[in-house]
Amino acid sequence: MPSSTRSPAWQALADHHRAAGPVHLRDLLGDGDRTAFLTFTLNGLVLDLSKNRITPETLGLLLDLAQERDVAGQRAAMAAGEIVNKTEGRAALHMALRARAEDGFATGGKAVHGDVQAVLDRMDAFAAEIASGRRTGATGKVFTDVVNIGIGGSDQGPRLACRALAGYARPGGLKAHFVSNVDVTDLTETLATCDPAATLFVISSKTFTTQETMTNAASAKRWLSLALGPDAVADHFCAVTTNVPSAVEFGIREDALFGFWDWVGGRFSVWSAIGLPVVLSLGMDAFRAFLGGAREVDRHFLETPPERNLPILLALIGIWNRNFEGAAAHAVLPYDQLLEDLPIFLQQLEMESNGKSVTRDGSLVDCATAPVIMGQAGTNGQHAFYQLLHQGTDLVSGDFIAAVKGNDAEGGHRDKLLANFLAQPAALALGRATAPGLPPHKVFPGNRPTTTILLDQLDPRGLGMLLALYEHKTFVQGVIWNVNSFDQFGVELGKELAAPLAEALSGGTEPANLDASTRALINRIRDVRDGGGEA
Ligand code: F6P
Repeated sequence: MPSSTRSPAWQALADHHRAAGPVHLRDLLGDGDRTAFLTFTLNGLVLDLSKNRITPETLGLLLDLAQERDVAGQRAAMAAGEIVNKTEGRAALHMALRARAEDGFATGGKAVHGDVQAVLDRMDAFAAEIASGRRTGATGKVFTDVVNIGIGGSDQGPRLACRALAGYARPGGLKAHFVSNVDVTDLTETLATCDPAATLFVISSKTFTTQETMTNAASAKRWLSLALGPDAVADHFCAVTTNVPSAVEFGIREDALFGFWDWVGGRFSVWSAIGLPVVLSLGMDAFRAFLGGAREVDRHFLETPPERNLPILLALIGIWNRNFEGAAAHAVLPYDQLLEDLPIFLQQLEMESNGKSVTRDGSLVDCATAPVIMGQAGTNGQHAFYQLLHQGTDLVSGDFIAAVKGNDAEGGHRDKLLANFLAQPAALALGRATAPGLPPHKVFPGNRPTTTILLDQLDPRGLGMLLALYEHKTFVQGVIWNVNSFDQFGVELGKELAAPLAEALSGGTEPANLDASTRALINRIRDVRDGGGEA
């Protein structure tokens, strides 16, 4: 694999960028054919790239880069169940979770469809028993609430889906709550709204070792035992994990245990049994529609030529903005309150996947990798950080996301929402040039690149499409940057350091080799706890 920045395709892009010189979106958007050329559609999903500073030539050169980096070959390797996550020795077969039998996903010579369907069928049966009142809490009361205890990939996907699709909650569906932070406030605030006799807990953890999740799970168990007695625990807890022995040891009964596989990465796991809260709240039909939407994008990703392939194009635009235009941050801006969790979800997906400095061959990367992903639901973000997007000194690229149909009410809420969704990227692109008498602080430079994603409707299928689009975008960018998008060793060191520090704070011995700053902070915490604190 040639070094990223010295390869012919990269160099051609760098030369092209230099030769293009200062080009303004105001001029580019004057070309009437541009929008048609740079807008792509897939079954009710529109991807408009025309407000990025690219020309047909740029796109051609980006597609050459994709070819040079063998995106097609890497995509085929992932789909074939090869060990693409080499540092952990695992396949990355999340597409199999939403596949049909004829899609033929297999890994290690074994087809996986049967196992996947078996778990989905068990989730369906479990949720149906609960909805019908055949499976109740220990006192015989029907369940009304489900509390998912998990963090990262074992929290964000189902949290986002339950929020985004709240309007699709089925009659008798459970009210879903999500507890992730080890800060006990998260748990106590949630439990304060729940009746123990009617509450089901889902302990979601691929490893069943994550400190935050295990601590919250133990506290939830105490809360339930105190209210209903220790014998009630088995009726009120289920688990989703690849670590069956630890879940059993926790007290989970086999019929409430849902497995998945090491070839499902945490941040790609919402399609697996990690989606159980979605099924309990919305029902299996909605969950299957969600999987179906993702599959539509999978088939498109696997079968469509790069020049019309939405995830590949979205990834390439990101490469252009990050590596050639110099955008160090990328804003995710959903104009739909129901998608308020999307920026955080994509933070994990993109930053944990591609926030890397070492290539798949173990050498240092020689180009910038994932940008900082940030964002907030529109229009709230407009009154917070858009000032910097419009007039700040740094270039921030962005994705504007909305659905045509959605919640509305008298007062023109949706029209006003969509008007802002249209106005902001236009303002970012066009700006407002200086004019006689216009003070400098009222000038908008414009020329800020954004992509627009428009769904017909934010329904289970549409959400599935949207998330799969971003998953494949992330994968393609990882291939181009030549990083392993499926490991996350960067989160390990902090975890290792936290364990002995927790012991020290609860009265144990301080770890040796502590730096002076951390030691001073520990002393301060101890002083304040002992009633002192003033230096
Ligand atoms: O933050 C690191 C991480 O390993 C994520 O990748 C993962 O989604 C999360 O922790 C939770 O892990 P687990 O599901 O094993 O509890």
